[in-house]
Amino acid sequence: MSTMRSHFCGDLRESHIDQEITVVGWVHRRRDHGGVIFVDLRDHSGLLQVVFDPDREEIFKIAEGLRSEFVIQVTARVRNRPEGTVNDKMPTGAVEVLGLDLKVLNKSETPAIQIEGYQEVGEETRLKYRYLDLRRPEMQRNLRLRAQVTRTMRRYLDDQGFLDIETPMLTKATPEGARDYLVPSRTHQGQFFALPQSPQLFKQLLMMSGFDRYYQIVKCFRDEDLRADRQPEFTQVDIETAFLTDEEVMGMAEGMIRELFKEVMDVDLGEFPRMPYAEAMHDYGSDKPDMRIPLKLIEISDLLKEVDFKVFAGPANDPKSRIAAMRVPNGNELSRKQIDEYTNFVGRYGAKGLAYIKCNDIAAGRDGLQSPILKFLPDEAVNGILERTGAQTGDLVFFGADKKNIVNDALGALRVKVGHDMNLVEGDWAPLWVVDFPMFEYDDKEKRLNALHHPFTAPACSADELKANPETALSVAYDMVLNGTELGGGSVRIHEQTMQDTVFELLGISKEEAEEKFGFLLDALKFGAPPHAGLAFGLDRLIMLMTGAGSIRDVMAFPKTQTAACPLTSAPGDADRKQLKELGIQVKKPAAEAPAES
Ligand code: AMO
Ligand code: AMP
Repeated sequence: MSTMRSHFCGDLRESHIDQEITVVGWVHRRRDHGGVIFVDLRDHSGLLQVVFDPDREEIFKIAEGLRSEFVIQVTARVRNRPEGTVNDKMPTGAVEVLGLDLKVLNKSETPAIQIEGYQEVGEETRLKYRYLDLRRPEMQRNLRLRAQVTRTMRRYLDDQGFLDIETPMLTKATPEGARDYLVPSRTHQGQFFALPQSPQLFKQLLMMSGFDRYYQIVKCFRDEDLRADRQPEFTQVDIETAFLTDEEVMGMAEGMIRELFKEVMDVDLGEFPRMPYAEAMHDYGSDKPDMRIPLKLIEISDLLKEVDFKVFAGPANDPKSRIAAMRVPNGNELSRKQIDEYTNFVGRYGAKGLAYIKCNDIAAGRDGLQSPILKFLPDEAVNGILERTGAQTGDLVFFGADKKNIVNDALGALRVKVGHDMNLVEGDWAPLWVVDFPMFEYDDKEKRLNALHHPFTAPACSADELKANPETALSVAYDMVLNGTELGGGSVRIHEQTMQDTVFELLGISKEEAEEKFGFLLDALKFGAPPHAGLAFGLDRLIMLMTGAGSIRDVMAFPKTQTAACPLTSAPGDADRKQLKELGIQVKKPAAEAPAES
């Protein structure tokens, strides 16, 4: 083992009885019981009960002085716990050790976070005292599982001939849709490196360099608005292959995730179904549908083209809008207050209201329905809606009418919320591939096309067809979705320069701009670039799902807050004046707390 200890705390069992052992660790809890002191000693492997008897006066005195989180070394004899005190919940619960010698290796002030009997202390405190927060068994479990996952993934990829190759962190902007983190250059004053949003261009260059199969478990940096599943600095399991088709890449990636779940969680995910993007948006209002929730959006625009009710007639006759209905089985039991809450909820996604029909008694026709909009709807419309949604007595039907993106966002989110609120979630794991993405998305505000994935994604058609119908063209891209979270995504890449030129042109990127930003890639495409394809997984999100953590911050050792700061190190911080001068940078805000020039 080591000179300081003979065993780990969590490993001791009845087979060790009568052995003299030495363990080290933290005082998790100390209890005084009728003249005997019990210490739950904690190391990375678990807890062990240590008993100190008053007959050994010298060490008993030391034991009396022990406080939470003191670091101690105990030499002790393993023995059975007295009858009736065996603890089945603890792996070491059948035994205890009798203290023969005790040394305090270090003391601790009262910790700002209670490790034993943890009480919620707030994000700021948890991150400021992260080294205490991480001592909690739950956090230890999360990070251990994370290491087990990367170990398993590496083994899978190594076995399949993938090469782990590093790519630079100080680099040029990679367009993945977020803002860049910039790093000023001292040797090229006034110029900046960008931290990579992903290794996308480098991994493509590695395929052009003939490495055939690459992977990297790599940090990516994106300056975007943070949410529970987003961090400014996060980890991708990044993969690229040459001479593999989209099907082969998806098969390999699916195999990896399936093996991972089998090995780490003993869960068989089965074969992943495929769903075209258009179907996902139409039926679930999302390109990452949570398939554990058995609710669907049902298109009813065609039934409402003639109604007088403006809220519906407008969207029903506008090709950029939709009206969707969602039947909630047994939704009749929702109170007015709950419906108002859902109305507020969809409001956050831009919905102007949330119409509904309660089905008290379907057989009674109109009289059996209850709804603020019923009076606006003719019989055919009402009957059509009930028939198409399959509404039964006791159900409720919600409606969303607006621009497509608003209805999709609002009802798509409502679907997930209602599904959870009403305990409709079916099964534990629902993976799928979303495929057949459009190449582009039209940006109404900017009046131009944006790449739905990134501009290096290959279309499923020729360059001429792409030019003729850019808005309807599909790409060869695929996203892996698990329980409503986008775990990863990728595509077949463009490997011919003419196609890359066409895509840049359609995106409104001029020849000069393309040359300036991606000239190195365009050049490389001229020298025998092989067909290539790949994808990247969000490791943090994957671990979040596997551990059931509520936030990706709980599966990262040192994450940032919602405002992208680190309370532990107080980063970001001011730079000292000398450093700024060397960089040729003048800061508008006076660097008030910056250390004086040295
Ligand atoms: P994409 O941008 O979809 O693709 O990213 C891949 C995966 O990374 C995860 N992810 C994040 N996780 C935490 N915090 C974030 N801010 C964050 N942003 C993304 C997601 C996502 O599915 N180069 C392409 C991949 C490729 O085409 O091969 C890329 O980066 O789980
Ligand atoms: P109003 O005529 O605005 O009072 O709306 C009548 C009902 O329609 C209310 O229940 C509103 O919540 C609902 N409603 C209003 N706008 C929309 C909309 N865009 N989509 C769905 N329901 C709406």
